[in-house]
Amino acid sequence: MTTVITVENRKGGVAKTTTALTLGVGLARHSQESGGGNVLIIDMDPQGDAARGLGLEPEGQCISHVLLGDGSVQQLRENVIWADRSESGGPNRPNLYVLPATDQLSEAKEDILTEIALLAARSMRTRRSGEGRHLVNLLEDKLGLAKEAFDFIIIDCPPTLDMLQQAIHQFADYAIVPVKVDYHGASATGRHTKNIIDDQAAGIEISIFAIVPTFVQANLRLTRSMMDQLTQMYGKKTIAMPIPHTVRVAEAPASGGLTVIEYQPDSPAAIAYQDLIDRVYAQLQGDD
Ligand SMILES: Nc1ncnc2c1ncn2[C@@H]1O[C@H](COP(=O)(O)OP(=O)(O)O)[C@@H](O)[C@H]1O
Ligand SMILES: [Mg+2]
Repeated sequence: MTTVITVENRKGGVAKTTTALTLGVGLARHSQESGGGNVLIIDMDPQGDAARGLGLEPEGQCISHVLLGDGSVQQLRENVIWADRSESGGPNRPNLYVLPATDQLSEAKEDILTEIALLAARSMRTRRSGEGRHLVNLLEDKLGLAKEAFDFIIIDCPPTLDMLQQAIHQFADYAIVPVKVDYHGASATGRHTKNIIDDQAAGIEISIFAIVPTFVQANLRLTRSMMDQLTQMYGKKTIAMPIPHTVRVAEAPASGGLTVIEYQPDSPAAIAYQDLIDRVYAQLQGDD
């Protein structure tokens, strides 16, 4: 069974992309070592950081083509980029793929809204009476086949999920929420997970796998109080090992498109990310 994980938070700059890419690289390694299948990272943010962060340059590929397409394997294949760069002396990632986002995703916004409306109209026509609320599922319709080709799918979300929020949550099984441990983060803890909780209330089955404290400076008093606050809200088991604030993490993508577990595997940030990766892999591999 494929496991689909979103990495999300309504705030920008909290390490969503960093976490999604590191998780993708780490899960792909585990999967490769145990003879498992492929991992796909889907970028839903038109800023397009996911491909760039792994040192990849899209040449026309974009998630927008898939969302507006016919849901075929062909279309998916044409738009994914293989993340392996071992031939050019880069990292070895034989089973990792990225479905990138580019400016074309923002340009396609109106067309995607029309597509959602068309799907909604179609599902209204086919819906039996009394079946209750029928949510439109654009991702299931266009990306359903990806679930046959990949063991793990990780979705790097934009800060505002807006029109695609429910479709993403319907498509996914779990959410991972990076939370920046700083003054603003402390005063807005609950907002990070509001989208998820609202959609759970609307009947969508998505669970929070982990809250990941990021940019953590252990010596600050604020850190302790925010960690306590997070533990109180989400429970100790949901809080992942804190990711320290360190220049190593920011340097990694600029050093040839690497994640910190590839760039400085012994650094505290890499160790903390590895702990998250191992937990995800141990608990969700073959999850059904
Ligand atoms: N633990 C960390 N320590 C220092 N810099 C970090 C850390 N995590 C992420 N960054 C940097 O912070 C910036 C924002 O991270 P990013 O993952 O792009 O956030 P988001 O996707 O939530 O907007 C990037 O430049 C990234 O390299
Ligand atoms: Mg991002």
